[in-house]
Amino acid sequence: MEEHHTLITLFGATGDLAKRKLYPALFRLYKKGYLKDHFAVIGTARREWDDNFFRSVVLESVASLIDSPQDAEAFASHFYYLPHNVNDTQHYVYLKELSKSLDKEYSLDGNRIFYLAMAPDFFGTITQHLKDEELLTTNGYNRLIIEKPFGRDYQSASALNEQLRLSFDEDQIYRIDHYLGKEMIQNISAVRFANRVFEALWSKEYISNVQITLAEEVGVEERGGYYEKSGALRDMVQNHILQILALVAMEPPTSFADVRQKKIDVLKSLKQEGLEEISQTFIRGQYGPSEDGKEEGYRQDANVDDHSDMETFVAGRIEIANERWAGVPFYIRTGKSMGCKKTVIHVEFKPAESTLFSQVAKHDVSANRISIHITPKEGFCFIINSKAVGQSFELQSSHLEKIFDKNFALSSPEAYERLILDCMTGDMTNFTHWEEVAASWQYVDRIRQAWDAKPACEFPNYASGQMGPQASYDLLTSQGHTWI
Ligand code: BG6
Repeated sequence: MEEHHTLITLFGATGDLAKRKLYPALFRLYKKGYLKDHFAVIGTARREWDDNFFRSVVLESVASLIDSPQDAEAFASHFYYLPHNVNDTQHYVYLKELSKSLDKEYSLDGNRIFYLAMAPDFFGTITQHLKDEELLTTNGYNRLIIEKPFGRDYQSASALNEQLRLSFDEDQIYRIDHYLGKEMIQNISAVRFANRVFEALWSKEYISNVQITLAEEVGVEERGGYYEKSGALRDMVQNHILQILALVAMEPPTSFADVRQKKIDVLKSLKQEGLEEISQTFIRGQYGPSEDGKEEGYRQDANVDDHSDMETFVAGRIEIANERWAGVPFYIRTGKSMGCKKTVIHVEFKPAESTLFSQVAKHDVSANRISIHITPKEGFCFIINSKAVGQSFELQSSHLEKIFDKNFALSSPEAYERLILDCMTGDMTNFTHWEEVAASWQYVDRIRQAWDAKPACEFPNYASGQMGPQASYDLLTSQGHTWI
C-alpha cells in the first residue's frame, strides 16, 4: 500500500460536511495506511478555534471508528487550525507560512490538495488568493477539490469555472459528485462491460425503458434555506441523476481514462425538446403534511416561505438522441419525504416475442429486467422467465438476486474515502469534467425555463410519505409503462 505525502488545506473545516464525512474518510485512509507519517491537514474557517480544539472536534467526529486511542491521537496530531477570513490577503500569507513549515516537518514533497467545503460564493476569491499569494507549489502537485453545488444554472457555473481556471487547469480541478464514489454506482460499468450477455443487449433493439429512482425518506430537515434556492431539480437531477444516466447509457470506454469523455458524449446527446413538450414530460411536486398529520409539509419548515413554489420532487422522461438509444425512455424520479430511502436503477428489456408461449401461457411473457440496487440494499436482481411447476406450460418469473450482506458495506470504502484517495493518486475518473457539468446545466436549465413559463402546479401535490404526485404515475402510464 502506497503511503501518500500530502498537505490538505480544508476551507470550511468547522462545517457539517467536514465533521460528518471528511474527517472520518481521512481517518479510514489513515487506518488503512494510505496516510501515515507524511500528511498534514490545515483546517480553516471563520471561527476562532485553535489546534487543540480542532483536534478534539476531529477526534469526536471519528469516535465510532476508533480501535486504539493512541492511534487516534497520533492521527489527530497531524491537524492544524488557522482562523481565516477568505477576503483577507494577510491570512493567505499565514497559510503559506504554515504550509511551508508543515511541508518541512512532515516531508510533504510540495504536494497540495485544497479542499473547498463551503459556500461556492467564495470559491473564486479563494483560488485567486491561492495563486496570487503563491500558495501553489512548483515541486509537487496542486489539486483543487470542489463540493457541489457547482453554480445554479449554466451561466453561473460557467462564470465560476472561468474564475477557477484563472488559477487551476482543468486537470487540477476535482469536482465532487459523491454518487460517483459509491460502490454500486461504480459497479454499473462492471455489470455492463464485463458481461457479454448485457453489453450485447444494451440498446434500443432490446431495451424497452430505463428507470432511475433516487427516493429519500427525509424531508429538507434543516436545509430549507438552501433548498428554497435549489429545489430537487438542481439538488439531485443536474448532478447525481444525470451522472447515473450517463454511466448507464455511455458507449463502451476504451479505458478508465476515457469514461469521462464517453459520459460527456451522452450528456451532449440528451434530446432537447420544446418548452411545451418539456412541461408535459417533466413533473414537479412538493410534499404536504403526511396523511396522519405526524409529518410536516415542506411549507411548514421554519426556513421555507409559506407560499413556496419550490419543487421537492421531480419525475421526468429523458431521451437520448443517438444511434444506440433513440426512442428509449429513461424515466427518472427523485424527491424528499417519499416514505422510504431507495436508490435503484431498473433496466427493463423488451418482452420475448415467442409464438410458442403466447399459445400456452395464460399471461403475456413478462419482460426480463436487471436491477442495480444502490441504497439501502446493495446488489443486483435479474428477472427471467421459467416454466411453472406442473402439467401445464405456464410461465413464472424468477428473481436471480445477489444482495450483498452487511460485511460488504463495512468493507467497501465510503464514497468520500474513495474520492479523496483518488484525488491523492491523481485519478480523475470519478470526478466530473467541466463539459459534463456544462451539458447537464444546459439540459436542466431548459426544464426550469419550461416550468417558469407556466404558473406552478397546485402545491403541495403529494403527502409526505407518498412516492410523489399522481402526475408522475400518469407520465409512465401514458407510455404503456409503470414505475417498478
Ligand atoms: C446531496 C443532496 O447531494 O445528496 C441532498 O444535496 C441529498 O439533498 C443527498 O439528501 C443524498 O445523498 P445520499 O448519498 O444520502 O443518497
